[in-house]
Amino acid sequence: MSKTAEMADLALSLKEKGHKVINMASGELSFKPDSTVRKEACKVINRGDTLYTQVAGLYQLRSLISEKLKKDIKVDYKSDEIIVSNGGKQVIFNALQSTINQGDEVIIISPYWVSYPEIIKLCGGKPKVLHTRRQEGFSINTENLEKLITTKTKWLILNSPTNPTGVVYSFENLKKIIQVLIKYPNVWILSDDIYEKLNFSSENNLNIISIEKKLKRRSLLVNGFSKGYCMTGWRLGYGAGPKILIEAMKKIQSQSTSAANTIAQNAAIKALQLNESYFEDIKSSLIKRRTIVTSALSDLQGFSSNFSRGAFYLFPSIKAFLGKRVKGKEVIVDDTSFCLRLLSSEHVAVVPGSSFGNRGSIRISYALSEKDLRLGCKRIKDFCDRLV
Ligand SMILES: Cc1ncc(COP(=O)(O)O)c(C=O)c1O
Repeated sequence: MSKTAEMADLALSLKEKGHKVINMASGELSFKPDSTVRKEACKVINRGDTLYTQVAGLYQLRSLISEKLKKDIKVDYKSDEIIVSNGGKQVIFNALQSTINQGDEVIIISPYWVSYPEIIKLCGGKPKVLHTRRQEGFSINTENLEKLITTKTKWLILNSPTNPTGVVYSFENLKKIIQVLIKYPNVWILSDDIYEKLNFSSENNLNIISIEKKLKRRSLLVNGFSKGYCMTGWRLGYGAGPKILIEAMKKIQSQSTSAANTIAQNAAIKALQLNESYFEDIKSSLIKRRTIVTSALSDLQGFSSNFSRGAFYLFPSIKAFLGKRVKGKEVIVDDTSFCLRLLSSEHVAVVPGSSFGNRGSIRISYALSEKDLRLGCKRIKDFCDRLV
């Protein structure tokens, strides 16, 4: 089980025992999907339009995705260059499963989303981790990136805004990455844009393919409805890429889950018709929530940071607290023991950085309500203040 799921499970079991647990571990927004989306789902059920769709998804949905990509990132994708799946996670799984041969390498950037290395390994590949540094704002060092590329490199996975740091890669950084990638035409690029709509930086819609269209023929764009549209449980994501790749992904999907859920697909048609003000509202409430957390915790050593410019995560260092203890309890030796102690004594769930490939940090999600955030921060602060 992933560390994120493990912490969430522990939090739930404490909740079941009647404790008020503040779950700052999970990666989902507390908002409901827009009412037009919810109403459409009910209509579809009541009409009974609930048979299987084409494996790649409803044609109308794919056409709207194609229009969305044209509008948002100025790249043309035809409907047969798009696949709709059960979440962005399945899109990634389909892509790697259909392309990786035993021993192929996939470069991921640490801190990384917990599922990347595991999906790569499940598909027979080898994760090659490029570490980024807090002191450098977790930007990608392209000299180090180039050193990792070998004849076995099949994919480079990029994710911005990033889970778990909230970093949005700058235009300059992406340009440098492109300069490296141009030299290696056999390396495919997976651009995980799942947090695209939750980008608070001035760098808008930065997508590597939109910056360098030459990469399109060997790139897969991954996106979905979980984050920006608050539809995590609806399980709907999509991929856009060359037809040959989409066809291979369709084969895998047809033999595993067939098409994505018909009700969710129909409702997503309404989601794609929402205008930008919908996301502006979400973004402004997230910015407010981020301020609540950063100002409540800024006194704690290692907690003040300004690199979270998207998604809904903060990734502070907890190194200053290692080797300390709450009176009478065991010493906190690493990020995992920090998180476990915080959960058991203060009933606040956060995720250890080591599950994202970065020890000595924790991931705090600020996707929850303002009231819960305030309470969670107070408990984190009390906990850290008691460590000696
Ligand atoms: C970076 C990243 N990519 C992909 C996903 C997959 O999202 P979903 O399968 O819900 O669309 C997540 C979910 O947390 C994520 O954080």
